[in-house]
Amino acid sequence: MSDLVFDYTNVMSSAVGEENGLSPEAIQALSRMAKDIHDDLVGRRASGDKPFYELPYKIKEAKKLKKAAAAIAGNFDNFVVLGIGGSALGTTAMKTALAHPMHNDLPRKKRNGARLFVADNIDPDEFSALLETLKLKDTVFNVVSKSGATAETMSQFMIVYDLLKSRIGKDWKKHVIVTTDPKSGILRGIADKHKLMNFEVPLGVGGRFTALTPVCMLPAAAAGLDIIGMLEGAQAMDRRCKSASLMENPAYLFSAIHYLMDTSRGKKMTVMMPYSYRLKDVADWFRQLWAESLGKKEDFDGNPIHVGQTPIKALGATDQHSQVQLYVEGPFDKLFCFLEVEKFGSEITIPKVFGHEPELAYLGGATMNQLLAVEKDGTEYALTTNKRPNMTLRLKKADAHGLGQLLYMLEVATAFAGGLYRVNAFDQPGVEFGKKYAYAMMGRQGHEELKAKIEANAPKQRKAL
Ligand code: PA5
Repeated sequence: MSDLVFDYTNVMSSAVGEENGLSPEAIQALSRMAKDIHDDLVGRRASGDKPFYELPYKIKEAKKLKKAAAAIAGNFDNFVVLGIGGSALGTTAMKTALAHPMHNDLPRKKRNGARLFVADNIDPDEFSALLETLKLKDTVFNVVSKSGATAETMSQFMIVYDLLKSRIGKDWKKHVIVTTDPKSGILRGIADKHKLMNFEVPLGVGGRFTALTPVCMLPAAAAGLDIIGMLEGAQAMDRRCKSASLMENPAYLFSAIHYLMDTSRGKKMTVMMPYSYRLKDVADWFRQLWAESLGKKEDFDGNPIHVGQTPIKALGATDQHSQVQLYVEGPFDKLFCFLEVEKFGSEITIPKVFGHEPELAYLGGATMNQLLAVEKDGTEYALTTNKRPNMTLRLKKADAHGLGQLLYMLEVATAFAGGLYRVNAFDQPGVEFGKKYAYAMMGRQGHEELKAKIEANAPKQRKAL
């Protein structure tokens, strides 16, 4: 059963006024459009055009993956993901949500799997530090790239390959696992040629929709996380998302509110603010999903459109002391979405010390859990009374079932939002340009023309102090 609660009280005009809030009629007015988008997506799903919808049902595959991951974790203590964007963010979100917060520092006996590292950048200081710190013989590298060509990931792989060959010798192959397209790409070729252990990114599932594929499920399972529970949570959410009605389907309502706020209330930014450390990196994952899917210059028909809401991540209570001043008193250009859990895994009681100090006595005997809940209520209250629309997605717990529901809901919401904005939510031409720029300027064959064009357009003289 899906028990995720979507509280949207504070986006309504009854809470934040007409200028910043939505009337029930405004939401209702989208019903016709919602039905058309729903029918279109249902049709595409049925025809196999949008396979991400079916991922929650890949239980058999997940069981096999779990077995493979357990064997890998039995052989290696460190599991390092080499990947970027959609090939990394979901894994990090899962690790933060479901693993012990100090997972990598725990002794093996207290961990239910390998230590998990996600190397999603090419910062030389960071990457060399990782390689220097890990014992190579205890480390397996999972090269994750759907295209198999991304310069960041492939450069990491080339460095690791060279290192393994020189330090480990012919057994280097045991230390590399590839996750890539089943058929195409140089990485697929390398995996096949060297008979490396490999997993497939299902055809037709784009990078940022791969959370429930081996892209993230293999690393998650290797770290001992409950991947079956996540799939079951996603299934429960799928059942809730079968309805075309905005008032029954939480993903569609989430999308419709964002769309209306952006296009009719000037909320060009949306801040996702978890009040749960475990959900912190869901906000990072969602940032990519929303930005890359909906930030588009052309509509379905190729007309210029330049749409997309800027997603921002924040963390409660930490960012109350950083961002909330701006959120409460600054421009009326943001919508807010809190993530919260009903129950934390731990409870800490604040000891009754300094009882004679009135500035501290009120804290003694209360729990940290209560304090965090009150702080969230305080931010919600401050935003609402200052006419800043906000909503809350509440999970019972930050567990696998809840996380599966949340990730799947946000994916469905994004697909639906593509229909509302009339853009292709499944491509990323802007990202592809960055990749091509790197290929051209690093001298990759076949990109000479682009290199010449970039150089011809470069400023003749830079203006800098
Ligand atoms: O969502 C996307 O498509 C992108 O963010 C990709 O995941 C990212 O660019 C990495 O691509 P790849 O997996 O091909 O290396």
